[in-house]
Amino acid sequence: MNAVKYGIAFLLFIVVTAQRNPDSASMQMDNKGFVYHQFKPGELWYDDQGKLINAHGPGIIFSQNKYYWFGEKRGERTSGGVNVYSSSDLYNWKQEGLALSPDDADTASDIARGCVMERPKVVFNRKTGQYIMWFHLELRGQGYRAARAAVAVSDKITGPYKFVASFRPNGNMSRDMTIYQDDDGSAYIIYASRDNFDMRIAKLADDFLAVTADDKLLFSDHREAPAIFKYHRQYYLMTSACTGWKPNEINYYTSTSLWGPWKKSDNNPLKGPGAETTFGGQSTYVLPVRGKKDCFIFLADRWNPANLTDSRYLWLPVQLKDDKPEIEWTDAWSLDFFDRHK
Ligand code: GAL
Repeated sequence: MNAVKYGIAFLLFIVVTAQRNPDSASMQMDNKGFVYHQFKPGELWYDDQGKLINAHGPGIIFSQNKYYWFGEKRGERTSGGVNVYSSSDLYNWKQEGLALSPDDADTASDIARGCVMERPKVVFNRKTGQYIMWFHLELRGQGYRAARAAVAVSDKITGPYKFVASFRPNGNMSRDMTIYQDDDGSAYIIYASRDNFDMRIAKLADDFLAVTADDKLLFSDHREAPAIFKYHRQYYLMTSACTGWKPNEINYYTSTSLWGPWKKSDNNPLKGPGAETTFGGQSTYVLPVRGKKDCFIFLADRWNPANLTDSRYLWLPVQLKDDKPEIEWTDAWSLDFFDRHK
């Protein structure tokens, strides 16, 4: 009799698990949560607590043997702040909580609840020992009109980050942006300006808490969603067209200097069906894989404007063929891809 009871309980467990996560075939459960061994672009992705990872428009940095994934906490009508997760293998992510919280709605703060915080990127300052978060900020009740960059700081990588300031860099509008730290430790903001018609760069101050006056127009191509990486002494800057949440075709530019001149490539680096709409996603970051020389992962958001929490993450390996990036769709892959494609 007991055997029958246990049998029924086991079957129920399988059914509940499968419903909660239709992707359960690619992972195992342990008593802490899900264990992944692969990336499955566009599928639901759960954290160590069994909750969907909620960190959109992400930026990832590596510190003390772990990766930290920062991203937009979505779900409320406006921004819920910036979430952070940690991982030592890139597949399994531990929820570390809210790195930056919006302030109360009834305050005069630039980040009063109701504001929009997008595309957070964190960088470590070797001189001050601080972690500095940059993000795109839109002020409460103003739609996308404020067009500001914003800065927050913390002594601890997971935060809580303290808001420092928001502004238009050197007076220029700033919407989609990314932060790039070069090999010499200096850092830069690359930002879509003049209603996204211009892509600009500005060098950050020594403490990374402000921009310097070293600020330059890179190109005027009406592009956004910048994501940059460096390979063989060349910089590659990927961008999307400007169609809001709707996907469009990615492109990229190359230069041997961050300050340009940037040369636009004729090739779409994405290959295969869906390449003309970035596989339904929009560029956000290119992650260098630690310990694997010249291996990069392309990160994009497949936005779901009807339910932004359920926007999906597209992580795909970048292959560099004759110094040209190529990104092919694959339903499932793991880091050993890079060992086979060298
Ligand atoms: C996109 C942008 C996203 C978000 C969205 C809002 O163009 O890349 O980060 O701002 O518009 O409509």
